[in-house]
Amino acid sequence: MTEKQLVALAKDAMRGAYAPYSGYTVGAALLCADGAVYTGCNIENAAYTPTNCAERTAFFTAVAAGERQFLAIAIAGSPAEIDENGGRKIEKLTQAAWPCGVCRQVMMEFCDPDKFEIILATDTEHYDIYTLKELLPLGFGPGNLK
Ligand code: THU
Repeated sequence: MTEKQLVALAKDAMRGAYAPYSGYTVGAALLCADGAVYTGCNIENAAYTPTNCAERTAFFTAVAAGERQFLAIAIAGSPAEIDENGGRKIEKLTQAAWPCGVCRQVMMEFCDPDKFEIILATDTEHYDIYTLKELLPLGFGPGNLK
């Protein structure tokens, strides 16, 4: 699985997004150490706070399936015109979808911050790669409880 392929899966996962309130649709594709890939999308809620981000949808689906080791996550998302089902009408990406702090913390639970790669689609053609440590320096993780 190349980085480019993972980004393509993240973009495809945006199709599942349910974002009638923000109009900001996100897709994520999570690569596990065993080679499996789990995707996720953001799922919003009329009460707002129950909303789940794309990254956490992907992580929680993978963990529920028994996965515990992860190599990389690709994320794609940007504001869009939303259709009557809460999905996006247009394909074009206009900005990088930076993962929120809560999602970075969920990554910290399962991933090596020095090695785990966060691949951000920056527009329709390009992507940038960061380590989890770059996006969550001095993060709090399971090791701090020992
Ligand atoms: N969102 C994500 O899916 N991932 C992030 O890391 C940032 C935010 C979603 C949540 C909400 O549905 C919409 O984007 C706007 O905040």
